Amino acid sequence: MLQTVKTNASTVLRVGVVGVGVMGSNHARVLAELPGVVLAGVADMNRKQAHHVGSTLGCPAVGSIEELLDRGVDAVSIAAPTHLHRDIALACIARGVHVLVEKPIASTVAEGDDIIAAARRAGVTLMIGHVERFNPAVQAIAEAIRGEDILSIAITRVGPFPPRMSNVGVVIDLAVHDIDLICWFTGSKIVEVQPQLSNAVAEREDIALLQFRTASGVLAHINTNWLTPFKARTVHVATKRKYVIGDLLTRQVTECYGFQPDGSYSMRHLSVGHAEPLRAELMAFIKSVREGAPPPVTGEDGVASLAVAIQCLDGRTDTELAPKSLPVVEVAPAPRRTRAAFVHS
Ligand SMILES: NC(=O)c1ccc[n+]([C@@H]2O[C@H](COP(=O)([O-])OP(=O)(O)OC[C@H]3O[C@@H](n4cnc5c(N)ncnc54)[C@H](O)[C@@H]3O)[C@@H](O)[C@H]2O)c1
Repeated sequence: MLQTVKTNASTVLRVGVVGVGVMGSNHARVLAELPGVVLAGVADMNRKQAHHVGSTLGCPAVGSIEELLDRGVDAVSIAAPTHLHRDIALACIARGVHVLVEKPIASTVAEGDDIIAAARRAGVTLMIGHVERFNPAVQAIAEAIRGEDILSIAITRVGPFPPRMSNVGVVIDLAVHDIDLICWFTGSKIVEVQPQLSNAVAEREDIALLQFRTASGVLAHINTNWLTPFKARTVHVATKRKYVIGDLLTRQVTECYGFQPDGSYSMRHLSVGHAEPLRAELMAFIKSVREGAPPPVTGEDGVASLAVAIQCLDGRTDTELAPKSLPVVEVAPAPRRTRAAFVHS
């Protein structure tokens, strides 16, 4: 889809951030440093937090989205709690403002669809913050498997309980990243889900073993939990000719290739970049806004991964049988946790 609202490449883009908690304060930090961008302001209903971030970064701080829009912005990053994404996005889009919406796109598929429809009508750029796609290790894996015949994908994303529990479990909080990666790596959609969930300690699921089949026939597996005392994020991809192993934290990516009948094979470490994923994501968003080109992570991508995540929670297995709009998973406001500002999440 070609966007209709373009911004001249030579003009400085005025970009704001809505919700400057853990994630949004990082958006603001990165935007403040991007060339061709002015951090036009930060908005947070917690005015103290807005002022803290605004004074640290030297930008205006306001208490509401309306005040931010009234200051004049070309684009905003929305990093408020997920249950507010739809209303905040619609308010921005109604003023012709381009939006980057943090993942997950919204609390429900219907709300995500509303954002997509509004952005399309207004001709503004809508991108979803599936930041893992911009992790250099993920990009090295994607490059290594490009054009290969993918057979299976296994992703592990485990760690300890987060310092502040929201009322979503590991599927919406963590697995949604990997559902997006599976669709992106395969260029296909998930057509079958086999979820195993358990809430061992928390109110919501804190262990999830999720199995998928894509329309292209790839088998995929996500192992995620909050019961592991250390963080681990690994991706293994088997193709007909290669086996690629990536550690998303250490950013080491290795490929095994040249399989021989005697079981021997060769191994090499692949070159992996050093870019900060959030910076790469925000640069891609700004580029799409400037060029009026489709963003690398579309609203449809965001809804697709949310829909699969919700199906895992519902226990439905056949995605083709699922109704277009799936039931509401309430993503209500969470009690505040103590936070060190600018902690990289
Ligand atoms: N991409 C990732 O890896 C990643 C990581 C963490 C969080 N997230 C997403 O980012 C979003 C925010 O998560 P977080 O952990 O930063 O939450 P947070 O609670 O730390 O921050 C949210 C901020 O939004 C503010 N806020 C609440 N209502 C508001 C309103 N009406 N207008 C303006 N500001 C408002 C809150 O005061 C708070 O400061 C969520 O959608 C979450 O899923 C994404």
